[in-house]
Amino acid sequence: MFEDAKLIYAPSSLHDAVFCREFDASAGTCAEITVSALGVFEVYINGEKLGDEILAPGWQCYDKRIGAFAYTAENLKEHNVLEIRASHGWHGGSIYSCYKPGFEQTLPVSVIMKMVYTDMGGDESLIVSDESFVGGAYQVVSSDIYDGIIYDANILSDLNPVSVLDYPKDKFFLLDSVKVKEHETVHPIELIRTPKGETVLDFGVNMVGYPILKIDAPKGSRVSLSFAEILDKDGNFYNANYRLAKCRYDYTCRGGGEEFKPFGTFYGYRYVRLDEYPHEYKEGELRSVWVHSDIERCGYVDSSNELLNKLYENIIRGQRGNYLDIPTDCPQRNERLGWCGDAQVFIKAAIYNFDVLEFFRKWLQDLILSRGEKKVIPRIAPLTNGYKNWQNFEPTAAWSDAITICPFELYLAYGDKSILEETFEAMRDHVESMRRRAGDSHLWTGDDQFGDWLGLDAPFGSLKGSSNEDIIATAFYARSTELLVKSGEILSRDVSEYRALYARIRESFISAYEDKLATQTECALALHFDLVDNREEIHRRLVSKIRACGHLETGFVGTPYLLHALSAGGDDELAYELLLREEYPSWLYPVTMGATTIWEHWDGLRPDGVLWSDTMNSYNHYAYGACADWIFSRAAGIMPHPDFPGYGKAKIAPHPSPRLGHLTVRYKTRNGDIVSSWRYVGDRVEYDITVPTPATVVIDGREHEVETGTYHF
Ligand code: BGC
Repeated sequence: MFEDAKLIYAPSSLHDAVFCREFDASAGTCAEITVSALGVFEVYINGEKLGDEILAPGWQCYDKRIGAFAYTAENLKEHNVLEIRASHGWHGGSIYSCYKPGFEQTLPVSVIMKMVYTDMGGDESLIVSDESFVGGAYQVVSSDIYDGIIYDANILSDLNPVSVLDYPKDKFFLLDSVKVKEHETVHPIELIRTPKGETVLDFGVNMVGYPILKIDAPKGSRVSLSFAEILDKDGNFYNANYRLAKCRYDYTCRGGGEEFKPFGTFYGYRYVRLDEYPHEYKEGELRSVWVHSDIERCGYVDSSNELLNKLYENIIRGQRGNYLDIPTDCPQRNERLGWCGDAQVFIKAAIYNFDVLEFFRKWLQDLILSRGEKKVIPRIAPLTNGYKNWQNFEPTAAWSDAITICPFELYLAYGDKSILEETFEAMRDHVESMRRRAGDSHLWTGDDQFGDWLGLDAPFGSLKGSSNEDIIATAFYARSTELLVKSGEILSRDVSEYRALYARIRESFISAYEDKLATQTECALALHFDLVDNREEIHRRLVSKIRACGHLETGFVGTPYLLHALSAGGDDELAYELLLREEYPSWLYPVTMGATTIWEHWDGLRPDGVLWSDTMNSYNHYAYGACADWIFSRAAGIMPHPDFPGYGKAKIAPHPSPRLGHLTVRYKTRNGDIVSSWRYVGDRVEYDITVPTPATVVIDGREHEVETGTYHF
């Protein structure tokens, strides 16, 4: 697509550089500009930034493809300056090396562009990136995804002729996907002097983005900030959990009043410590702006339980911050990766919360491209940089299954078959990769797995819950095969072989494991994936497991299904009891501890103030927020009608509980808003249901076929 354009870099500034080209044009005309980079970029014409996205063009599977963005620059002058600022972003630096010696990005930050415009003679003209550009260092001293930014406003740009990088141009393609943008602004709610004597601003919520500095201070004065998600039990600043991510924000003032916002990085934080500051902090000098993919919010929950309402807002906040071009595990420490398991366990909740079809379409493409020669679905995507060292040669249960589970849920919610078409072959390859491991026993055993990651029933010192990894592996082998069959049927493909395979996996699972199902996760998985003969017995076992310890103990893998498994056995009341429990461990316990996002661990911060080890302790990991799916689909009963995917017709089957008293859930489908609301009036339940299309409403087991409108039951 870039025909004559060359990939250019500035030999004197290999990580952060600005590239410039002056040109004359017919005044008042427009220019069409297409740009890409090895790194992230911003394009300016005459000092005006084009487009409102940041961190363009996002993160792709660089080995295979790199996106280019297209812009229109309006109202050119006679004499114009084109400027492209670029930083290595996800393509280099610390996220490239994963801080491992031996993994360094050797390619410089480089840009490629073409511009069609009208020249002074009125003819259409073309400018492409080549040796006619100058480039070099500018005020960004360094900028890095994990390590933050160092910026000196006094540095004068040092522009020299650029060099041309020999690089395969066929990787570049025009990317039209959901862009990363700035969203709302948050102001500090408190200025804290900690017991250690440090000055800390509290922004009120654990957010993702960056502070914008507006300051009037003498030339050369320095602002240096640090970031944290929580204060420790003594009220001191705690950011050891960011691990090696330096998250710097160092700014040297030009003097005379100025405003600064970072470029090429982002931070996950609630608290900002003023490490160096030219004067006593003055109100209004720092505000924060949220940064995330531009996805539209669809879900709203309001109930009689304030903690539950807050939990839901925490889930929303966690998703926003972690849906930053790709679905990440967390936004703060030296990770921020597209961990497939996290994306998979949260997908149903994600769909109720936001419109994520196009967001996932791009990520799924990079997931498929991230496969190695054996076409095994990796654990993270895009799998690039030094992380490629982690390429797995065998699938990983529940992580690799993102390739079947995510597209299928997206299809149900949006009714768009193309998402299945785009992924079907990869689904089949994935099932085949498990089939190779399982062989004729149809039981997938003995591989290196993540198990029920972070389950509370983990043996001492382990990150894996105590559920049997082979049981989890075969359960997901069955599930993915079942979804492959369903997808194939929708696409009118011949899947008879896989239908038969599914039946054999199911049988094998039942005869090998049904009697052995012991943990909450094992029982919930087997029930939810329909891998048992005697449902009542396994349901009883699940209930007795919960009753024995008095609370949930599922990890990433079991948590999305726990409440559903209970409900399917007619135990909505126990599901509500778990959901509304406030004592540790539970969903609401972190809310009682002041959480504003979902924690990575049920016990990230224990009641006695003890924190999880710094090495693995994020306060913004959305996985356990998967329970939002149960609130929408079971408590409020909003689900896609199986015969009408995409809510061409809805099915609303609420399951109220006196424990909650009142619930109103609104879900914005692409066909309009569904509202499901119920309230206890004495012993009686009153329902108000609004549907934007014909729907089947199920109240107390009785089905009502209704047209568009609002109904009271
Ligand atoms: C991530 C997880 C991820 C896991 C894989 C962690 O470091 O933060 O969320 O799924 O590794 O086991």
